[in-house]
Amino acid sequence: MSFLIEKDVSLGKFTTFKIGGRAGFFASARSETEVVEALQFAKQNDLNVFILGGGSNVLIADEGFDGLVLKIALKGISIFPKKDKTVRIAAQAGEDWDEFVKLCVEKNLQGVECLSGIPGFIGGTPVQNVGAYGQEVSETIVMVRCFDRKNEKIVELTNADCEFAYRTSLFNTTEKNRYIVLAVTFALKVYGEPKIIYRDLQNYFGDRKPSLKETREAVIKIRAEKSMVIDPRDPNSQSAGSFFKNPIVTKEKFTEIERLARLSGIETVPFYKVDDIKVKIPAAWLIEKSGFHKGFQKGKVGLSTNHTLAIVNLGNAKAVDVLALKDEIQSKVNFCFGVELKPEPVFVGF
Ligand code: EPU
Repeated sequence: MSFLIEKDVSLGKFTTFKIGGRAGFFASARSETEVVEALQFAKQNDLNVFILGGGSNVLIADEGFDGLVLKIALKGISIFPKKDKTVRIAAQAGEDWDEFVKLCVEKNLQGVECLSGIPGFIGGTPVQNVGAYGQEVSETIVMVRCFDRKNEKIVELTNADCEFAYRTSLFNTTEKNRYIVLAVTFALKVYGEPKIIYRDLQNYFGDRKPSLKETREAVIKIRAEKSMVIDPRDPNSQSAGSFFKNPIVTKEKFTEIERLARLSGIETVPFYKVDDIKVKIPAAWLIEKSGFHKGFQKGKVGLSTNHTLAIVNLGNAKAVDVLALKDEIQSKVNFCFGVELKPEPVFVGF
């Protein structure tokens, strides 16, 4: 073994929630070879494996994870210009996502500018098809290089192979735990125009056409106002960002939700059109209208003072505290609107 496998490592510090027990074993892999070696170690010792990236979208149990936590620390970014005013830009899984976005914007490469200010690593982005402000990584990903644990070999999946949809891909649905993302290749437009379709961005710029740099700055500013940027000075950012997905419902169901809302004296229910038969409702709105105001507190956890969709560790919270608030929110939203909210973070060790 060319690298260290540590025993009994506390995991909270690796997560933005700052919550979680200890890992039986912990390794940090800096190359594809080290990933393979670590997996061999796990196999020989009959250990379950959890792949940790930036730790920005996980809730780890207080009991920790009784197996091997493998932190992906593969680094490197390569740019390949194409003849058609696009580039292919390949980033290793352990690169910081926002540093990557910053680099793309600096190089006037369009396609990820609205995804500025999002915590986490490159490797996590295809897994939950990271999206914000009208953009999703599925729009620009052309290839995901992975280690296939089933066939024990490295494979390269195309965009279509990944089965991307809202906050999902084959990595977190049909083929959960099968692939370990090693690198992601994006196709970006050289000097392309920024994508300004989300209302917050349209309101910000009015009729003006911003540059990529201005778009990035605006997104970071808007995110920061909602405490959706990791900032050690902002107590709200000790969280996993959005704790629930925005539910997608049929139009019939939406009409029923509108009826329930009117019973409580609420005139309009916000929504985004998904397709001809479905709409997406902001979970933050459902949570707020079910009685949880911004800054709501329950013991050591609460909701962000700037956004009801983020559950926040107010200091020394345990995973059980988060779960208790999660359950309370789910049952109240279900009671008020008949909607079952689904958590967005990955639950580890439960
Ligand atoms: N709202 C409230 N109360 C709040 C906040 C929002 O009622 O405290 C309502 C408002 O009606 C608002 C609407 O919710 O118009 C939507 O809010 P926002 O624009 O902040 O977006 P979101 O739907 O809550 C989603 C993503 C975010 C992403 C933003 C911007 C999900 C689960 N969340 O949030 O992603 O940054 O859009 O595109 O899809 C994340 O996944 O961790 C994340 C932060």
